[in-house]
Amino acid sequence: MEKIILTGDRPTGRLHIGHYVGSLRRRVELQNSGEFDKTYIMIADAQALTDNIENPEKVRQNIIEVALDYMSCGLDPAKSTLFIQSQISELCELTFYYMDLVTVARLQRNPTVKSEIQMRNFEASIPVGFFTYPISQAADITAFKATTVPVGGDQLPMIEQTREIVHRFNSVYAPVLVEPKALLPENEACQRLPGIDGLAKMSKSLGNCIYLADSADDIQEKIMKKMYTDPQHLYVSDPGHLEGNVVFTYLDAFCKDEHFERYLPEYANLQELKDHYTRGGLGDVKVKKLLNNIMQETFEPIRQRRKELEKDIPYVYEVLRKGSDVARETAAQTLSEVKNAMRINYFDDKELIRMQSEKYIGE
Ligand code: TRP
Repeated sequence: MEKIILTGDRPTGRLHIGHYVGSLRRRVELQNSGEFDKTYIMIADAQALTDNIENPEKVRQNIIEVALDYMSCGLDPAKSTLFIQSQISELCELTFYYMDLVTVARLQRNPTVKSEIQMRNFEASIPVGFFTYPISQAADITAFKATTVPVGGDQLPMIEQTREIVHRFNSVYAPVLVEPKALLPENEACQRLPGIDGLAKMSKSLGNCIYLADSADDIQEKIMKKMYTDPQHLYVSDPGHLEGNVVFTYLDAFCKDEHFERYLPEYANLQELKDHYTRGGLGDVKVKKLLNNIMQETFEPIRQRRKELEKDIPYVYEVLRKGSDVARETAAQTLSEVKNAMRINYFDDKELIRMQSEKYIGE
């Protein structure tokens, strides 16, 4: 069986470093690993509209931002198919048929949908499209017969729901769909990178993000001046705490042993640095400087590539257009298999036409 990756993001804003450690970095590695037969990366504009119906322009404007972020991180149109969800109408058709395989009660139990409904104060006025987006996400994944879906932990219920739909479809009709597996970020810090204030997940509305497109100065200021550490660590000599300490959480997400050789050779690895910090005698500034060095090194090349790409926006749209053409072909192939399995391919079904004719012969 082919190994196929599909994943995507809603275009509701520029991508931030939470997206980077949570999924983008991994996607680029997978794309370059040579282990996968195909990689599809989707800008989920139709899904973004399910809870942004008052704000369609936001979605429209952010498609290019997400595409620029993707490509500057190293997603390469020569190796991955980058496309826009709404341009593949086959996905809507699949969604409609999958709707018959899912109950309202099952959707209501979906933990991600549940918490999103709360967050958005939808309660009594949930748009049907929003409520059913897990089904549409199952269509996204299965249309490409994805085997691997690299996502953050919050998306696990979507993958689970997709697997159920696949199972149901394959047993009711015929085994044409593929059960996908989620691929989660490497550690807890990557899975849920907190905002620089340490209060919650990074979010645009809370103003606690570091964006991929932030300048070197922005990054430095956010780390050195704004990043939350340990409020009880008043003097360098005081023992410090790691829990809830954003600088250390970010180091968990970004730091490799090789960084110590370059920037802080008196320690061999992150564990030694943590031990010193909790013992006392290590100041926040030194740790923050390390993090700043690592983040500058990580994001400088990405920022440079973005600047280059920004000079030729029509090219980026062209990449998405071509990717959408390729994606549509694949989705159309799956849809046709789905319709055959459901036996709603009447005009190709010679046997059906023959039998229906025989019914009336000799009447
Ligand atoms: N729900 C995902 C998010 O909010 C975006 C998405 C849409 C997606 N369709 C997908 C992710 C299919 C993985 C696979 O970020």
